[in-house]
Amino acid sequence: MSSELTFRGHETQQVNDEYSPKPNKPWLSEIRPIRYLLREQRLVFVLIGIAIATLFFTLAPSSSTTSPASSSFSTVRYEPHPISYFEHESESKTTPYQHHTAAVHSFGKVPLGLKRKGLRIVVTGGAGFVGSHLVDRLIERGDSVIVVDNFFTGRKENVMHHFGNPRFELIRHDVVEPLLLEVDQIYHLACPASPVHYKFNPTNVVGTLNMLGLAKRIGARFLLTSTSEVYGDPLQHPQKETYWGNVNPIGVRSCYDEGKRTAETLTMDYHRGAEVEVRIARIFNTYGPRMCLDDGRVVSNFVAQALRKEPLTVYGDGKQTRSFQYVSDLVEGLMRLMEGEHVGPFNLGNPGEFTMLELAKVVQETIDPEAKIEYRPNTEDDPHKRKPDITKAKEQLGWEPKVDLHTGLPLMVSDFRQRIFGDHKEGGTVA
Ligand SMILES: NC(=O)c1ccc[n+]([C@@H]2O[C@H](COP(=O)([O-])OP(=O)(O)OC[C@H]3O[C@@H](n4cnc5c(N)ncnc54)[C@H](O)[C@@H]3O)[C@@H](O)[C@H]2O)c1
Repeated sequence: MSSELTFRGHETQQVNDEYSPKPNKPWLSEIRPIRYLLREQRLVFVLIGIAIATLFFTLAPSSSTTSPASSSFSTVRYEPHPISYFEHESESKTTPYQHHTAAVHSFGKVPLGLKRKGLRIVVTGGAGFVGSHLVDRLIERGDSVIVVDNFFTGRKENVMHHFGNPRFELIRHDVVEPLLLEVDQIYHLACPASPVHYKFNPTNVVGTLNMLGLAKRIGARFLLTSTSEVYGDPLQHPQKETYWGNVNPIGVRSCYDEGKRTAETLTMDYHRGAEVEVRIARIFNTYGPRMCLDDGRVVSNFVAQALRKEPLTVYGDGKQTRSFQYVSDLVEGLMRLMEGEHVGPFNLGNPGEFTMLELAKVVQETIDPEAKIEYRPNTEDDPHKRKPDITKAKEQLGWEPKVDLHTGLPLMVSDFRQRIFGDHKEGGTVA
């Protein structure tokens, strides 16, 4: 039967020798690739391939390429903060800044298989206490960082573990002089921040003006690190961002307090008048490794004194309160603020409130239970109470501190111990 059919076919071919195109079947060309895929389990292999690729890009480490030396300097190992920066989906925005960095600065998830492109970021005051921890996190995230610092209170040692990393640059520069750099973001921390430097210094005003001018010129986003000192000796407790403060404009602390208030004013004026994308953080007392040893701030004072077997100096009756935030919590808050949608100001601080005497007790427990307390007359304009209301930061940044004083203090103590006794074998005083 089959041979018969074959034979007839040959016959037909001989009769119709002329070329006759096959009838057009458009549907056939469309289903052909599908049939191809379905044959020989090809589809299964394709799906397996996609699954493997998804798994690979999900589990692969981020683009962070911290320099190998980065951990060698630190005496304390700092674990990356457990909170991801990219939890929040972005809302679409149309500002120049957003156009400029939309691809790299997405607050949403990084598209499958694509590494997040690093930003170019300036950190003024990046060789200081807070700045150097911020730089660590930015480098770890894959950004390129330029530190601008005049080393007024900062130290090269705080950032030298990044030397040799092509994504890190250090410029010795005083921000009261203008500077031109091409970057996406400016974290403006440069400031003579400790009480011993509360005297005439134009950094907060002139330096902030210069950095805002830079942000305007290059279309960068600008973050100001302001301070809880803008609330002065507050009449509201705890302090909300809506509180305007109670500040002495001519007191010994005024250069700092009023300087930061002016810096906030300038920042908002550049935002409203020149459409600069700005962020304002009001930072409450922060402590941690790399703080200046003898800068007059209460936590560093107590820790250094207890380690050197000196009495802990308490000013006034020691009943004035402060809240103490560990530096990694602050850095997390600053980065969330910079990446987020809100201008602020935001209080960034730990609401746990301690009197000076309670703090002295924690320091005694951590370092030396025998440490003595010495009372001194209170300093002028020392605020009686200080405690942040962080509701706004919780709601709008999804941020709150994670490290309590009993956990954070030992980390700072081991850094101070190494710097005091490691640098000076006899444990003598440090200039
Ligand atoms: N640490 C805190 O408890 C705290 C509290 C409130 C606000 N802040 C703010 O956070 C920022 C960082 O504070 P910090 O504790 O790291 O202080 P810090 O003194 O350790 O760091 C400040 C850095 O700025 C640099 N600097 C000062 N003047 C400069 C200038 N004119 N040009 C260039 N660099 C200059 C210093 O050399 C230093 O490296 C400051 O703006 C401060 O006001 C800190």
